[in-house]
Amino acid sequence: MDAIKCLKTRRSIRKYRSSPIPKNIIEDIIDCARQAPTANNIQPWEFVVITDFDIKNKVAKLTDRGKFIAEAPLCIVVFSKETKYYLEDCSAATQNILLASWVYGLGSCWVAGDKKPYAEDIRKTLNVPEGFKLVSLVSIGYPEGKIPAQTKKSLTDVLHLESY
Ligand SMILES: Cc1cc2nc3c(=O)[nH]c(=O)nc-3n(C[C@H](O)[C@H](O)[C@H](O)COP(=O)(O)O)c2cc1C
Repeated sequence: MDAIKCLKTRRSIRKYRSSPIPKNIIEDIIDCARQAPTANNIQPWEFVVITDFDIKNKVAKLTDRGKFIAEAPLCIVVFSKETKYYLEDCSAATQNILLASWVYGLGSCWVAGDKKPYAEDIRKTLNVPEGFKLVSLVSIGYPEGKIPAQTKKSLTDVLHLESY
């Protein structure tokens, strides 16, 4: 799949088949995440890969709108050192995870981490050292059922040429 097609067809997927994801694909998704742009090339990110059922379950239960993480064969949790641009850097890395997954035929969903009251509990559950910020949790798996339809605003609604 070329990059433009990937960008235009990706959708959040919240239902997955139970098939496991090969280790080399998981590693390549993280390899894509770490290629993201990052202010001053600080690369503040750390990625925790969870495939263990019990750990995924614990994490899913802590979230408010991410209970489906429990049913996904994989969850990648993005943490960051607290730098000036950590949120931008790790959001870019999270988007790379979503797009790389889509290229591999995998559906995913970004679940909020930063600013959520459960952020610290998830950090502790995953034994991440104090001071690291939870940015996102990404559930990943082969999609079950139909890919949701597009729900985006139209191009003409959001595009402003030369001035607003
Ligand atoms: C910062 C951020 C936080 C999100 N948090 C959640 C979440 O907690 N639970 C969820 O089901 N979806 C979450 N989403 C996914 C959005 O609901 C989804 O991207 C949006 O509805 C647009 O749909 P699309 O991804 O299919 O284009 C989040 C997305 C972003 C960017």
